[in-house]
Amino acid sequence: MASIPIPDCTCILCIYYKCTVTFSNNSSNKSNILFSRCISATMATNTRTPVALVTGGGSGIGRATAVRFAELGYSCVVADIDEPSAKETLRMLKTPGIAVQVDVTMATSVEAMVTAAVQHFGRIDCAFNGAGILGASGRIVESPEDAFDRVMGVNAKGVWLCLKYEIAQMLQQEPVMSEPARWADKPDVCRFRGVRGSIVSASSQAGLAPFKYHSPYCASKWAVLGLTKTAAVEYAKEGIRVNAVCPGLTATPMGDQLREQSPPDLQGLVDPKNHPVGRQAAPEEVAEAVCWLCSDACPFTTGEHLKIAGGL
Ligand SMILES: NC(=O)c1ccc[n+]([C@@H]2O[C@H](COP(=O)([O-])OP(=O)(O)OC[C@H]3O[C@@H](n4cnc5c(N)ncnc54)[C@H](O)[C@@H]3O)[C@@H](O)[C@H]2O)c1
Repeated sequence: MASIPIPDCTCILCIYYKCTVTFSNNSSNKSNILFSRCISATMATNTRTPVALVTGGGSGIGRATAVRFAELGYSCVVADIDEPSAKETLRMLKTPGIAVQVDVTMATSVEAMVTAAVQHFGRIDCAFNGAGILGASGRIVESPEDAFDRVMGVNAKGVWLCLKYEIAQMLQQEPVMSEPARWADKPDVCRFRGVRGSIVSASSQAGLAPFKYHSPYCASKWAVLGLTKTAAVEYAKEGIRVNAVCPGLTATPMGDQLREQSPPDLQGLVDPKNHPVGRQAAPEEVAEAVCWLCSDACPFTTGEHLKIAGGL
């Protein structure tokens, strides 16, 4: 146990951990006793309701994710540029929540969203950056310059801004563990399971492969993976996990838009019948994966992307 680095952190878990290491130099029995006290102490501090923030929470995958977080017992901050739709999602939740209007392309707006979340709930345990737009379809030569800026603005810069302000908040938070007893016999895991926060962003299957007629969207979703993997390594040691999901065709307003505006030679690709599973995803199936990645079930998973594309 002495090989585990002594943390600088002053949270109750780390203070007890430091005591453990100090005492273990003299008496291994005492160290075991103190570690079990550390675990109980952490459990005692961790009975509060966790808090999840969801952008794009007014529709589709974001709405399904907010609903699933609430089913799992999280308080929810439902954020969307379309405030009425965010409020509609709020009415579906079983736990306390707030609806916040946000434009993820604007730093001041994203900062205000994070401030509102912290003012209401004290911290942000998990965030899903789901806000996104598809943009018009067309080959590169025919596509207007402002279409590129708009799609990149929401999907790539929007995720960067959300990461920036969410991580800044999480860095100020004490690490917590939701199920410390489960790891009681693994003190090293116990020590590093304490997380300040966990973030998942929406990339896409189009972030892993070419996406004909949607070059700005495709570029923006590859960018989300670059941001995810970079943020993950920058903040891994501070106990902040950052991951992404890459959904395939999903039954949401954006999924409908994609099918409607796709040129004939793309219709085969977007026809759910041609997918290995033979259907498109339900938004709830993506939401489940988001909540799992955010949860304590995968403490060693960071900088990853999870494809949810029915075998494609
Ligand atoms: N539906 C699919 O097939 C699919 C597949 C892969 C990835 N995705 C991604 O998943 C995410 C959610 O998609 P969806 O299908 O639920 O789409 P959706 O259109 O149903 O929902 C997107 C939400 O984002 C909000 N939004 C748009 N611009 C915003 C802005 N500037 N600030 C704040 N909110 C804004 C919209 O108001 C809307 O509520 C998106 O990032 C999308 O690119 C979707």
